[in-house]
Amino acid sequence: MVLDIIFLMLISSTSHVSANSTTVLPAAAAACSNGECQLRDECSTDRDCAAGLYCLSCPLEFRGSRCVRSTISDPFKLLNNSLPFNKYAFLTTHNSFAIRGEPSHTGVPRFTPANQEDTVTQQLNHGVRALMLDTYEFKDGIWLCHSFKGKCHDFTAFEPAMDTLKEIKAFMSANPSEILTLILEDHVEAPYELSRLFRSSGLDKYWFPVSKMPRDGQDWPLVKDMVANNQRLIVFTSDRSKQETERIAYQWNFMVETQCECFLFSCCFHLWIGL
Ligand SMILES: *[C@@H]1O[C@H](CO)[C@@H](O)[C@H](O)[C@H]1NC(C)=O
Ligand SMILES: *[C@@H]1O[C@H](CO)[C@@H](O)[C@H](O)[C@H]1NC(C)=O
Repeated sequence: MVLDIIFLMLISSTSHVSANSTTVLPAAAAACSNGECQLRDECSTDRDCAAGLYCLSCPLEFRGSRCVRSTISDPFKLLNNSLPFNKYAFLTTHNSFAIRGEPSHTGVPRFTPANQEDTVTQQLNHGVRALMLDTYEFKDGIWLCHSFKGKCHDFTAFEPAMDTLKEIKAFMSANPSEILTLILEDHVEAPYELSRLFRSSGLDKYWFPVSKMPRDGQDWPLVKDMVANNQRLIVFTSDRSKQETERIAYQWNFMVETQCECFLFSCCFHLWIGL
């Protein structure tokens, strides 16, 4: 997660960046396990670390894996939930599905970069509120995948999109005041396949309709109303035509992107909702 996070900012001069970052400090190694590892101790699984800590590898900061602390601030509690949605900022993961250690689901070893250490469920539990997912037609369905020459292959595929949508659904039903945003790099060409996927995942019941999305720089609805209406899932596609045909919002009708600065595979940029 640390390698590849961005903040989803919402257009407003008073946006509040409220997701707190993981605290990572280098320290000497210590042999420990079973919940005895303290902050910065080396670890191999979350269970090694004491309460409130988890085991993270972050090659840009340190070698191996260490217990780190993550402090999560819920923007709707930090302020209140009576402002328009575009007044809050959210932690977003880029290539949220490209998770280190995800087993191969194709029987072929994967040969493509991983971007995240946390599973999607862990990302959401750690405060991430927007996920960037790359959707491809692959095998007999829709998969989350990196591409090679524009196509998903056995050696670049991460997992069937349905598996991730089920994790998202579980989080949304367990957390009825949370609003999630999905930003799809959408390579699904077959008409209505993506809509069908969301319907069969059961996530369509949380769908925030494109007809309620503001145009011409107006504010979004209030967070408390989105929660009360249970319209808590915002989905954007990179495929312009699908807003007209499938009522999935075309991202560049509602977002702008600031200049991207890249370091190795890690790009730091901001997306703004509210165009
Ligand atoms: C972020 O975490 C630090 C250290 O735990 C804490 O002092 C600070 O209040 C937190 N900030 C927010 C906005 O929650
Ligand atoms: C919510 O927070 C905003 C910003 O601090 C404030 O202006 C507004 O009065 C608050 N609304 C409620 C209902 O507390």
